Amino acid sequence: MIRIRLAIETDIPVLDDVEQSAAQAFIGSSVGYVESRSVDPNLLMKLCGSKTLWVAADESNKPVGFIACYPLDGFFYVHEISVSRECQGQGIGRRLMNTVENHALDQGYPYIGLVTFRDIRWNGPFYKSLGYKEISPDLYSGLHNKFKEDIRNGMDPTKRCVMIKIMED
Ligand SMILES: CC(C)(COP(=O)(O)OP(=O)(O)OC[C@H]1O[C@@H](n2cnc3c(N)ncnc32)[C@H](O)[C@@H]1OP(=O)(O)O)[C@@H](O)C(=O)NCCC(=O)NCCS
Repeated sequence: MIRIRLAIETDIPVLDDVEQSAAQAFIGSSVGYVESRSVDPNLLMKLCGSKTLWVAADESNKPVGFIACYPLDGFFYVHEISVSRECQGQGIGRRLMNTVENHALDQGYPYIGLVTFRDIRWNGPFYKSLGYKEISPDLYSGLHNKFKEDIRNGMDPTKRCVMIKIMED
């Protein structure tokens, strides 16, 4: 059974493996393999401390997925979500997103924002099914900066998109 819980410090070294494994999903996709840049462990440690890093833990309490978020320009920003390749497609990503949504509602954030690939099934369409809508990338400076950062890192601007979900009770 998979349990979603807040991350603890000893989870952090495992999350790089989760991310590298998750990125395998892109092999053979329309965007090709997306080289996974490891999430900065210092950032993960910081988010662990601020209780905005959650993991999906297996029976042995080992993380098989995580979602890392932080406030950005009044948004609650999803910096990274990853689920190990062998655990994808079982609803874990959806549960991680729901956890974040509950937290954002609880904390009174008006929106959740993220940058993703528009046409990859487990990116844009997945978030759309959760109520996210694509917006113009330059509408909010914080999200625009994230979008531009991806382009600087070599991603195709025509395939990336900014999505937000408006929080309402
Ligand atoms: C995005 C991700 C975290 C979703 O986690 P997950 O546990 O697979 O999510 P779910 O099981 O809730 O499935 C989400 C949707 O994506 C689909 N999906 C997930 N993995 C898939 C795959 N490898 N191939 C095709 N579809 C896939 C699911 O079928 C589901 O679609 P549906 O709701 O139409 O059935 C995970 O797929 C992942 O780590 N991907 C690689 C990294 C990545 O893309 N991160 C997000 C960057 S914005």
